[in-house]
Amino acid sequence: MAQRIAIVTGASRGIGRATAIRLAKDYGGVVAIARSEDLLGQTAEVIRATGAEALPLGLDLREPSAAKAAVEHTLKKFGRIDAVVNIAGAVPQVDVLEMTDEQWDDGFALKLHGARRLAVNAWESLKATSGSVIFTSGNSAQAPKSGFAAVATVNAAIVAMAKAFADRGGLDGVQVNSVLPGPVMTDRRRSYMEKYAPAHGMTVEEALEKFPAKVGITRYGTPEDIAELIAFVLSPQGGWFMGAALRMDGGEVKGV
Ligand SMILES: NC(=O)c1ccc[n+]([C@@H]2O[C@H](COP(=O)([O-])OP(=O)(O)OC[C@H]3O[C@@H](n4cnc5c(N)ncnc54)[C@H](OP(=O)(O)O)[C@@H]3O)[C@@H](O)[C@H]2O)c1
Repeated sequence: MAQRIAIVTGASRGIGRATAIRLAKDYGGVVAIARSEDLLGQTAEVIRATGAEALPLGLDLREPSAAKAAVEHTLKKFGRIDAVVNIAGAVPQVDVLEMTDEQWDDGFALKLHGARRLAVNAWESLKATSGSVIFTSGNSAQAPKSGFAAVATVNAAIVAMAKAFADRGGLDGVQVNSVLPGPVMTDRRRSYMEKYAPAHGMTVEEALEKFPAKVGITRYGTPEDIAELIAFVLSPQGGWFMGAALRMDGGEVKGV
């Protein structure tokens, strides 16, 4: 069988980097996308060290032309696409009363529309391989807070959008699901804690230490925890997940 190919966005850091590296065990080639080309080069080196091929692509996925370019570069090098894993996200973390139109638009431009365009542009290739799409949402979809209004709104929209793609995927033989991480220790989580700490009368160090107990989680997640979840959903054993919103959060969400 020809080697299978995965595209992973947000692959320069955090959950995306860990996922790109993890999928190198299961795929013959991994296309790693983000803006920071130096960091992508490092991700690509680790992927190659596992024996898989790597194609690092420095792209700003907010740009409408980026998704088409990503698919064209992938097909030129590898000739097929088996999985599209949308992890890139950088929604501004601003209070609902202070957030500007530009900040709202920026959050949607990358995390929602960047992911949507990549899935649409890759769709014909995914139909040909009976491939898979993952969208990354987050627990804030289910517990919106005023200080992080847009993140929650985009994450809720992503779960709904993934369902719509899954509905189409049922007809076209493409598997589509979303994942909802809880608090995972990454650059983004640290920047969240820098805003959370003063709002709760703590230093960042105190907040980092007390946050897990405060929200009732066993520990912070690691990027590798989420990478393993994604690898499982994409594996043959995960083949019956369809339209699912899969939460992995150390117990943060207490509701049924
Ligand atoms: N960490 C958590 O606790 C948590 C919880 C729930 C959901 N999530 C979600 O999980 C995803 C990954 O989060 P993370 O914590 O791993 O974040 P992170 O460490 O900040 O990484 C974000 C990734 O997105 C890329 N990115 C940002 N802007 C981009 C753009 N315009 N074009 C292309 N790539 C871009 C970044 O690369 P460059 O800067 O190099 O472009 C980076 O690779 C996000 O969607 C986030 O909302 C995270």
